Amino acid sequence: MVYDSKSKTLSEAMEDSENVSSNPRVCAGTRTMSDIVSARLSRRQMMGGAMAAAFLAGCRPTGDRAADADVTPGAAADTADSLERFAFDEIAHGVDETHHVAAGYDADILIRWGDPLFPDMAPFDPLSQSAADQERRFGYNNDYIGYLPLEPGAGDEARGLLCVNHEYTIANLMFPGLGDGDYRDRITAEQVAVEMAAHGGSVVEVYRRDGKWSYRQDSPYNRRITMTSTEMEIAGPAAGSDRLKTSADPSGRRVIGMMNNCAGGMTPWGTYLSGEENFNGNFMGDLPDGHPEAENYERLGVPGGWYAWGRFEKRFDIGQEPNEPNRFGWVVETDPLDPASMPKKRTALGRFKHEGAETVLSPDGRVVVYMGDDQRFDYVYKFVTAGSYDPDDRAANMDLLDEGTLYVARFDENGGLEWLPLVHGEGPLTAPNGFASQGDVVIEVRRAADLLGATPMDRPEDVQPDARAGKVYVNLTNNSRREEPDAANPRAENMFGHVIEITEPDGDFAATRSTWDILVRCGDPLDSTADARWNAATSENGWFASPDNAAIDGRGGLWIATDQGGNWPLSGTADGIFSLETEGPGRGTGKMFFRVPVGAEMCGPCFTPDSETLFVAVQHPASDGTTDYEPFGRESTFEDPATRWPDFGDVMPPRPSVVVITKKGGGPIGS
Ligand code: FEO
Ligand code: CA
Ligand code: CA
Repeated sequence: MVYDSKSKTLSEAMEDSENVSSNPRVCAGTRTMSDIVSARLSRRQMMGGAMAAAFLAGCRPTGDRAADADVTPGAAADTADSLERFAFDEIAHGVDETHHVAAGYDADILIRWGDPLFPDMAPFDPLSQSAADQERRFGYNNDYIGYLPLEPGAGDEARGLLCVNHEYTIANLMFPGLGDGDYRDRITAEQVAVEMAAHGGSVVEVYRRDGKWSYRQDSPYNRRITMTSTEMEIAGPAAGSDRLKTSADPSGRRVIGMMNNCAGGMTPWGTYLSGEENFNGNFMGDLPDGHPEAENYERLGVPGGWYAWGRFEKRFDIGQEPNEPNRFGWVVETDPLDPASMPKKRTALGRFKHEGAETVLSPDGRVVVYMGDDQRFDYVYKFVTAGSYDPDDRAANMDLLDEGTLYVARFDENGGLEWLPLVHGEGPLTAPNGFASQGDVVIEVRRAADLLGATPMDRPEDVQPDARAGKVYVNLTNNSRREEPDAANPRAENMFGHVIEITEPDGDFAATRSTWDILVRCGDPLDSTADARWNAATSENGWFASPDNAAIDGRGGLWIATDQGGNWPLSGTADGIFSLETEGPGRGTGKMFFRVPVGAEMCGPCFTPDSETLFVAVQHPASDGTTDYEPFGRESTFEDPATRWPDFGDVMPPRPSVVVITKKGGGPIGS
């Protein structure tokens, strides 16, 4: 799909592409295993009164509990105890040109696009960019943030490595002279190379002194991972597949770079997982007639044609290098403690539009990775390693993610959940259906999951396990194209998204049968057309729309980051960070903690282990929906952006940045 550049920013086009279903089971209007709508709805109508009573009594019946609670904001009086861990004074919905945090907290800029990561680098000059320069600076559009603690050095109160994804580039805001709209015929080869160097990831050392965090420009750990120069190993069942071989890599085992790195996760052994999401958009051209990858690429929207990369590098033109897209769409594992180490694409975890890859241990020590495939009507996955984590032998864990079982979720209408194994030779995953090996299964996971009857979801974003509670939170961001509600996606034209809570039996995250419930249906609880469901304690500022990233703090509190894209005028607020109570009488209560500047989305909430610091990523300030921002009312460009956050200088364009939040006087975030 080529984006309509006259009417949309690139990030809105990207959002739209996720909003398009490429799932033939749904495009064809086929009812699926889980589309047993009327049974579910009538059951809930019958049980509504009983379930509401159970909810208010703090019981835990299976079902859409929050949906049956009192939804009048401010109506509940007995929620104070359960809200104790979120005792902050919430901020107001709204939109303006800067960021906001709850009273009593500091929210400071830690690192920005272009900031130097090596000691010989000068401060960023946006008027003299080059690819070689960008390779040594913090990348664009920071998304996921992971934190790996290190022993504090002399004078440090805390110290660690931030592992940060850089999801995509917005040339109109990065470079002068491109104007708004479609720049693809005007962008230069060097500017495209800068875009490639701004993708990927950063590892950067941070430390706290006198209560304030900074990054260390001369740290030996600092590293950029880019699309221009970082060689990666392709590991796991797809490694060496003929379908991954290209003219530059006849082995099918080496690739330069990772891209569209959205969310991710940290492993128990301290490596950094990064999900390649909308990689389809960076390819252009036409497959040769009759090429065997045609169906595979159609299911993933390849080529998206949003970028001009294929004009300058033939590997992004599928007419010239037809296998290259099979080398993207993976989860990449990097060891941040060894800046010389080669990142590895872990193909056992499947190839799709990866949002995050959050890990948790099962009771027997196997590692479980939860993952969402962010597109309308796509699926929720988990991967369970064959081997177990060894806390005493880091080296023994380094290739755990190459062997194990990948599962896709089927959410049943009775509140049950079955994790369906995506294993070659089992069920329909055989040669007659185009799966000659496990390599074929992981390359075309979506098609394999279609055949197994997985449940098409309303755009799965982060899937966040809570190790202590044995729960998993699934952020379904929205799906305005849903015509047929089902149990796990209960609203047609779901504009605002919802949060599902999975309960793994006895805390066994490796289990294959689980249960689920809906924690909240997002949107304005006072707007009857939204059919939103929140705990009644949620204020007019506490509800949110389009849940995307998530984090669990050290006290078990769930925090949600939102990404409404260009739809933020529907809620009247810019995106932000919200606490969301999961337990007790306050269950289903949202509170707004942090707000981004106009046009930005909120990414990467990440707590230090003591929960006294929260790192958040402000992505694409001045980008989304700026034509609806009345004080500005037009598309942003480099020269004329809706905000120049965070520098507010005369020339400096808006810069995606990591913000560090601490409580004045110390203490856990939210307390
Ligand atoms: Fe990159 Fe699904 O957000
Ligand atoms: Ca995201
Ligand atoms: Ca998103």
